Amino acid sequence: MSKNSVEKFYSLYLREPDGIAFCPYRISPLGAHIDHQGGIVNGMAIDKGIHMAYGRKNNGVVEVQSLNFPNRVQFHVREVQDEKVGDWADYLRGAAKMLSEEYPLKYGVCGVIEGSLPIGGLSSSAAVTICFLQALCSVNNIELEADEYIRYAKRTENLYVGVNCGILDQSCEVLCEKDSLLYLDCETYEHEQIRQAESMPDYEIAIFFSGLERSLANSKYNLRVDECKASAYYLMAYAGIEYNKLSDTRLRQVPFEIYMAYRDRLPETFCKRTDHFYSEMRRAREGADAWKKGDLVKYGKLMFESGQSSIGLYECGCPELISLYWIMRETPGVYGGRFSGAGFKGCCMALIDPSKKEEIEYNVRSAYLKEYPSLEGKYCSCFCKSADGVMAMHKLGE
Ligand code: GLA
Repeated sequence: MSKNSVEKFYSLYLREPDGIAFCPYRISPLGAHIDHQGGIVNGMAIDKGIHMAYGRKNNGVVEVQSLNFPNRVQFHVREVQDEKVGDWADYLRGAAKMLSEEYPLKYGVCGVIEGSLPIGGLSSSAAVTICFLQALCSVNNIELEADEYIRYAKRTENLYVGVNCGILDQSCEVLCEKDSLLYLDCETYEHEQIRQAESMPDYEIAIFFSGLERSLANSKYNLRVDECKASAYYLMAYAGIEYNKLSDTRLRQVPFEIYMAYRDRLPETFCKRTDHFYSEMRRAREGADAWKKGDLVKYGKLMFESGQSSIGLYECGCPELISLYWIMRETPGVYGGRFSGAGFKGCCMALIDPSKKEEIEYNVRSAYLKEYPSLEGKYCSCFCKSADGVMAMHKLGE
């Protein structure tokens, strides 16, 4: 899979790369949009992701070519500009900046980076950041712990790129283990790998790309985060709970009973976001139980409910993704599905019965393109399996 980036590296630098870094993409079947509120999420890394063939640069320069975007990026590892530029390479600039705040960086890195799937919904932004961090650390002889990868990648998004995301994406890509579901409490950072029960029927992960790529920086992502925080602020004030800065306030700090007692006083929009939060918390917990029991039918049902809550209460879809969601619901062989990730554009994901793969692929495609014929050539789908995150891969490589 890394063949193209290795060949390109060779043609640019006339030598073999020193190494190949890889970071998988992630899916989050339950726990949508509650990580930034300290909620509970379920996630898996998948067997597709981003590769970087890399080599050390003694002069401290970072020079990276993407096979997915034009222009080679260049900057000095110790002189990263403070302002983002607004292109894909901001994730590299941000990562170098965050890492260098705690680790002195002597060497730069040159390389070729390549993503295996279209952008949007699988957290390619966290994957590109973590992939690059691995390469930069390797040439500088730095070994990061899991929580450091997660922290630097999240800080890159929050402080450099300007997306107020939680820790879902980075945690899945770093912590997940093949054939397990990651159950992560984003308030306490406690997590568990839930092995799939022996009795669980076979499943695969289907990804349906709407044909619309996206960047969260220009979406309503941050607005929704603010609405949740504002709701928590009001509820704490009504209940006389001591609160702190708005930026440190999260719905997880508000007991459900308090919400029930003061719900009527909140503006309708805030109620919708908050209803989504509590119901999604319940689904993430119930989903974990269903997974432990191997009850894929129940798990899938919860995913469809989660999708509906994202559409009706959290209001984060776009017409194309909403139409994909309804198509998935009516397609035999789909256990459950929802928008993957933030859901403003990008893709939907589903857990499906592998024996029905061909029909599913055909049926979803025909129904979707009937509604959006102009997306012919842009829409696509693929099937994948769960995979190890970066830490489990490092352990295997030891
Ligand atoms: C994006 C964000 C995550 C999370 C999801 C929605 O992927 O980066 O932090 O909020 O959306 O669940």
